[in-house]
Amino acid sequence: MITTTRQVRPFLKWAGGKGQLIDQIALHLPPALKTGRIKKYFEPFLGGGALFFWLSEQYDFESAYLYEINPAVNLCYQVIQKNIGKLIKELNQLELEYFSASEKSKEKLYYDKREEFNVFLRRKASNSVVRRTALLIFLNKTCFNGLYRVNSQGEFNVPFGWYKNPTICNEDNLYAVSELLQKAEISCGDFSQCLEYADNESFVYFDPPYRPISTTASFTSYSKDIFDDQEQKRLRKVYGELDKKDAFVMLSNSDPKNINPDDNFFDDLYRGHRIERLNARRLINCNAERRGVITEILVMNY
Ligand SMILES: C[S@@+](CC[C@H](N)C(=O)[O-])C[C@H]1O[C@@H](n2cnc3c(N)ncnc32)[C@H](O)[C@@H]1O
Repeated sequence: MITTTRQVRPFLKWAGGKGQLIDQIALHLPPALKTGRIKKYFEPFLGGGALFFWLSEQYDFESAYLYEINPAVNLCYQVIQKNIGKLIKELNQLELEYFSASEKSKEKLYYDKREEFNVFLRRKASNSVVRRTALLIFLNKTCFNGLYRVNSQGEFNVPFGWYKNPTICNEDNLYAVSELLQKAEISCGDFSQCLEYADNESFVYFDPPYRPISTTASFTSYSKDIFDDQEQKRLRKVYGELDKKDAFVMLSNSDPKNINPDDNFFDDLYRGHRIERLNARRLINCNAERRGVITEILVMNY
């Protein structure tokens, strides 16, 4: 059973994280969750895993399958699962360095650590996985808006965040996350992997990089791979395969109708399935004018 005695929260801030939408998503979860019929949980676009952490407090899954294509983020979950003690030590050290630095030198410290992280990304070295993970968490807590964005060379390029008092090492939560992850299958790779293990006792939650709602609204560069309309269609096929297996499937995405009421991209793609529209406040968006309340879609096959 996936259970933990402590309250667990996402340990990464994540662009597109579902934290603010959970109350609305909760209204549309499969009723079979309450009857105990659902034994396996799948989150194939893991990121910060907001729904995974929230659901794990409410329901006892026998297993969870968590996939993330970004190797640095995937590694982070694996290190928390297998090497939590060493990670906490390394992260406490980084926190100490940060808070001992004068206000002026915090910015330089950030860019030094960013460069150290990028050396790891360039070399793809398999050693020092703990150091790499500690750096990723450090950067996530001290960079601008907790973004994870890379340039065309795959280098992390988010600027310093100027936070007054960031929590860099939340030890209690990281230990609780580690405990929760003991029964999880964590793997680096494509969302389609879920087809191998999902069955009629599975709940699959897809939270892919959103389809940009305008040319200026794109913030989906979590990795150097692009998630374009072809990818959205490939995902639709996987959704259909899971539906045939009688798995319970839920998918989030942007709503093109915010910009163009005649754009039926998702309504057409998922015709025949239930589509709900949720109210979201977008926090990370390069176009400041579009930070108001907008709708996002939720597609269910049940
Ligand atoms: C919208 S974010 C997920 C946010 C997450 N649900 C949360 O609450 O924080 C989408 C994630 O999918 C990952 N991703 C992109 N393409 C993928 C693929 N083909 N297979 C698996 N993961 C992918 C990205 O790296 C990113 O972390």
